[in-house]
Amino acid sequence: MDMSQQEMKALLAERAGLVEEALTQLCTDARAPERLRDAMRYSLLAGGKRLRPVLCLTAASLCGTDPAAVLPFACGLEMVHTYSLIHDDLPAMDDDDLRRGRPSNHKAFDEATAILAGDALQAEAFKVMTTCPLPAENVLKAVHCFADAAGACGMCGGQELDMQSTGIRIGIAELEHLHALKTGAILRASVVCGGLLAGADEAVIAALSAYGASLGVAFQIADDILDVVSDTQTLGKPAGSDQEQNKNTYPALLGLERSRELADMHADTARRALDALNGSMNDSMNARDAAFLRGLALYTVRRAK
Ligand code: IPE
Ligand code: IPE
Ligand code: MG
Ligand code: MG
Ligand code: MG
Repeated sequence: MDMSQQEMKALLAERAGLVEEALTQLCTDARAPERLRDAMRYSLLAGGKRLRPVLCLTAASLCGTDPAAVLPFACGLEMVHTYSLIHDDLPAMDDDDLRRGRPSNHKAFDEATAILAGDALQAEAFKVMTTCPLPAENVLKAVHCFADAAGACGMCGGQELDMQSTGIRIGIAELEHLHALKTGAILRASVVCGGLLAGADEAVIAALSAYGASLGVAFQIADDILDVVSDTQTLGKPAGSDQEQNKNTYPALLGLERSRELADMHADTARRALDALNGSMNDSMNARDAAFLRGLALYTVRRAK
């Protein structure tokens, strides 16, 4: 069963609100230089959809674990995501001056501070993740999974491929691989880690993994489309930036219409991946969360920003 649009919005707001509240408590340690702390909190608390932590809380809740117990891990996900955005905007990368509706970190502070704020957010993320009040074995598995997704075989690897191919035309198979790494890996891991933290069995983890992988690619295709069809005010980051830099994107390679079709196709694949849960759902599993995950796949390709 699908969830109504209204219920979906309410649950998204509720879970994003939990994350927002928890994030405000972080990066406040007075031992850290004040300017570095300010730079970290500047980007971390600038809003954002909080989709990755919400996915993590929801996957855990689906598997019968109280979202509150997963909050530290979910905050860590958002910290790593925020660091990736700070570095993505640097002059050496996408050279974008606006992020989450504010001057990019290196514009509000300076390049060195932005690099260090990103570095520190990444390290602090793993520190926060280890404070989850859950069995240590589950936390260890989730940290391992997430570190792999954020590192050279995941997000950083994808960003490297993105930079190497900027200005050069690549094929669609290479682009899908690039998207799966730079964006898909962390989104997929956000979902899988929710299951790992809850101690879910292998069949459930496999279904969550398939869902997250397709959702991740759909998410980046939608991001590429929004860069073309939306405006800077709505996005809170510079529209048209991809074309200006001659980035490889789905619209650049295939046009808008085909890109939309492919985004929908990946979102649909994500939704269908959850059907595999039907055989594994037990009494402690929450069907409302499965419906919410299905709704989030649709939201990923219908979102306005
Ligand atoms: C932007 O991610 C970077 C991509 C991976 C496309 P989001 O669109 O989730 O950005 P925020 O967190 O809402 O600002
Ligand atoms: C970057 O993709 C994804 C990250 C790993 C940060 P983009 O460069 O398209 O992200 P935006 O559009 O600047 O948010
Ligand atoms: Mg980029
Ligand atoms: Mg960018
Ligand atoms: Mg983009």
